[in-house]
Amino acid sequence: MALESINHIIREFEIDKPEMRRIMRAFSLEMKAGLEKGGKSSLKMLPTYVRKPTGEESGIFFALDLGGTNFRILEIELKEKGRAKILKAMNFKLPNRCITGDGRELFLYIAGCLKKFLYRYEISNEVCLGFTFSFPIDQTAIDEGRLLNWTKGFGLKGVIGKDVVQLLKEALAKRGLGNVEILALLNDTVGTLVARSYKDPDCRIGIILGTGTNACYSEKLLNIKKLKGRVSKGEDMIINIEWGNFNKLALTRYDRKLDKLSANPGEQILEKMVSGKYLGEVLRLILNGLVQKKFLFLNLGSTNLDVPDLFKAEHISDIENDVSRDLEKTKGTLKSLGIRSSTERDRHIIKRICAAISRRASRVSASCTASIIKEMDPNLSKAHTIAVDGTLYEKHPRFSKNMETAFREIFGKKASRVKMALTKDGSGIGAAIVAAIVERDKIEKV
Ligand code: GLC
Repeated sequence: MALESINHIIREFEIDKPEMRRIMRAFSLEMKAGLEKGGKSSLKMLPTYVRKPTGEESGIFFALDLGGTNFRILEIELKEKGRAKILKAMNFKLPNRCITGDGRELFLYIAGCLKKFLYRYEISNEVCLGFTFSFPIDQTAIDEGRLLNWTKGFGLKGVIGKDVVQLLKEALAKRGLGNVEILALLNDTVGTLVARSYKDPDCRIGIILGTGTNACYSEKLLNIKKLKGRVSKGEDMIINIEWGNFNKLALTRYDRKLDKLSANPGEQILEKMVSGKYLGEVLRLILNGLVQKKFLFLNLGSTNLDVPDLFKAEHISDIENDVSRDLEKTKGTLKSLGIRSSTERDRHIIKRICAAISRRASRVSASCTASIIKEMDPNLSKAHTIAVDGTLYEKHPRFSKNMETAFREIFGKKASRVKMALTKDGSGIGAAIVAAIVERDKIEKV
């Protein structure tokens, strides 16, 4: 009985080849609809006003990189020929009031951190920067964009509908930072694509698989029917897909429950099945169900599986990484989470469930990525480097391998033309490169 139930759950999480094909078709339709004027789609398909770099951009630029609860400030030297070097960096952890409090607090905090950075490194001349703000933004120019909605558990008041560059400028003025110029606003996926394509012309797709998940790609201007703002140069523009909101996916009862309990029910459905912020919670909901049916932790009177967000994605990575005899390491992981005792059987079941959850996430990601590749290059006649960043992709033992297997199932032999490249710090380095593109365009105009 117990084993049957567990096998059933694992089957529910399987994304087989026909399902991957179905996801690809649905994703492609949503991409097209999202590019139309007034088109209805769960994919926002946001114009970014950024085009790919030439690799010749150069100079010293700064990046403010806000992706999740961590905030980074970087000074970056671009040396042409695709060489970028981080000269200085400072990391900050956002306090809670900057995640769910008043929006002004967040921007004042960012400006305060920049002030510390400039003071510490004794920088007083002009600071030209790119601002990576990794949330859905309706951009109308390279340095202007309104927040559409919060994701990843953020919920600051007074920011939705406002231009985030303007909010940052006001905060910089309040902190007395008159020497700072914000040249560009961008998403982390865009930074990642740009950072990789600075040295690799085959890169046209950027993906984040971390706390949140999203992708962007380079699209022909002609196909972006809904474009509102002015475009000064080029024939292509990077589109921020905001794939986390894709909703044409088959949900299990656990996904429905997680969605209902989340800060944004009905939104970011793909993100809730794929990204690091949520995978641990899917695991908790499944295990809790098994405990209630008395299929797991029979030796324990009570567990703390009622505590939301008990498991993090890193625990899933740890458990899947455990090849020790009797899964001893997993025993330790569970103990550290307050689950005092577990049998070897319990741990094997948990490991199988972890693998099913992360495998589903990787196969959904691969299907959507394959769909983007097909949109750009239906016969897969070119080589494609996909720039990927994010802790889930980087730290999980099998995520990238599972995606590669899925590509082989989808593309057959041609899958060898698709290469995924971990692009660390892409969101920051890309911000500097985009700032350099903007500055060069300005000079050329004069
Ligand atoms: C969320 C945000 C998106 C971002 C992604 C990865 O999905 O909405 O803009 O790119 O997280 O950080």
